[in-house]
This record gives sequence, structure tokens and C-alpha cells, in this order.
Amino acid sequence: MFISFEGTEGVGKTTLIRSLYEYFQQQGQDVVLTREPGGTPMAEQIRSLLLSVNHDEQMSNDTELLLMYAARAQHLEQVILPALQAGKVVLCDRFTDSSFAYQCAGRGLSREKLQLLNDNFVVKMPDITFWLDAPTELGMSRARERGALDRFEQEKVSFFEKVRSGFAEIYQNEPLRMKRLDATQTPEQVFKDALEQIQHKL
Ligand code: TYD
Repeated sequence: MFISFEGTEGVGKTTLIRSLYEYFQQQGQDVVLTREPGGTPMAEQIRSLLLSVNHDEQMSNDTELLLMYAARAQHLEQVILPALQAGKVVLCDRFTDSSFAYQCAGRGLSREKLQLLNDNFVVKMPDITFWLDAPTELGMSRARERGALDRFEQEKVSFFEKVRSGFAEIYQNEPLRMKRLDATQTPEQVFKDALEQIQHKL
């Protein structure tokens, strides 16, 4: 089973993923916890490039999109596909929906560009995607509390509003794959809701 986790900054993805990781382990399942952009040494280098605020030039939106997919191609081939083939559960912190929400809805790139990349380079989509949804302000203040802000976290509220509406659009179009979790609830309740959806899927 391939499960991805989505949402704007600071909505509690990491906490949920860790709880589910422990749950699957306790069930005796082989489970792989990974993230995007990143998940392999090379893809993590691309991540550093993407998140760094120390560039002498501004990163173009197209470059940002292509780097996301360069990292994803590496991650799929080296980590995700082999794990799924070996019957493992894969928990992935962000996947293609982040590209739609951030690069298309947020940055304004066309859907056609993204579609072209998805059609050609993404051979496997998640079985379930959890969208942890909360008002953007809440998440941004949590992100600020965590310390130094990366290149995305430095964006304005209006950017994250667009990103959130991007996730909402996917949720409307693909209700079977994407499940919305109310991220304003306690971490325990969010975990309970997620588990219910997984058991329902199984
Ligand atoms: P992440 O580490 O999950 O950020 P956080 O835990 O702070 O929410 O992801 C890094 C950033 O990369 C995040 O701001 C969203 C962005 N991103 C994209 O813009 N497009 C993508 O396709 C992916 C996977 C991530």
C-alpha cells in the first residue's frame, strides 16, 4: 500500500506519519517512511537546492517544477517502486499533489506542464492520499515557531491560500483517492480518522 500525505506548512503531517509508521510496525508490516522532495541521497541534494534561501539568483518556476520531478523520478525508481514490489507499506510525506498545489495553484504554472510530467514520469500513484487541512494562518505560525524558514515557508499568506485551494480542487476531483482530515483536531483524533480510512480501504 502506497500512502501519501499532503497539506500546507505546519498542519501536523510529520506527527501523523510517525503514528502510522508505529501502527504498521506493531501490525508486523514492513513499512518505509520517506519524503519528497528527497528520499534518496541524490534527491535530498535536489531538496537542498529547492529549499535553500541562499541563492544569488531567483529560481524560475519552471526550474522549480523540473527539480521536483527530477527528485521524484529518482525517488520512485530507487525507493518507492522497489518497496511496493517487495510488499512493503510506503508512507510518503508529499507527492505529486504538492506539485499541483504549489507549482500550479501557487506559482501559476499551467496544468498542461504538470500533466506532461505526470503522464511520462509517474508510473505509480498513491492508493490513498491524506490531505491534512487547516486554516493557513494556523500552520504558518506553527512553521514560524519551528525556527528558520525555508524558501517556501517565506512565502506570503496569499500564496498558501492558493496552495490550499489547489489541494481542495484535487479533493473535489478525486474523492476516492484523496481523503481530507480536519487538521485542527487533536493529533490523536487525526490519527483515528486516518486509521479508519485505511481500514475502510483495506
Ligand atoms: P516539507 O518538508 O514537507 O515541508 P513542511 O514539512 O515544512 O511542510 O516539503 C518541503 C517544501 O517543498 C514544502 O514547502 C512544499 C514544497 N513542495 C513543492 O512545492 N512541490 C512538490 O512537488 C513537493 C513534493 C514539495
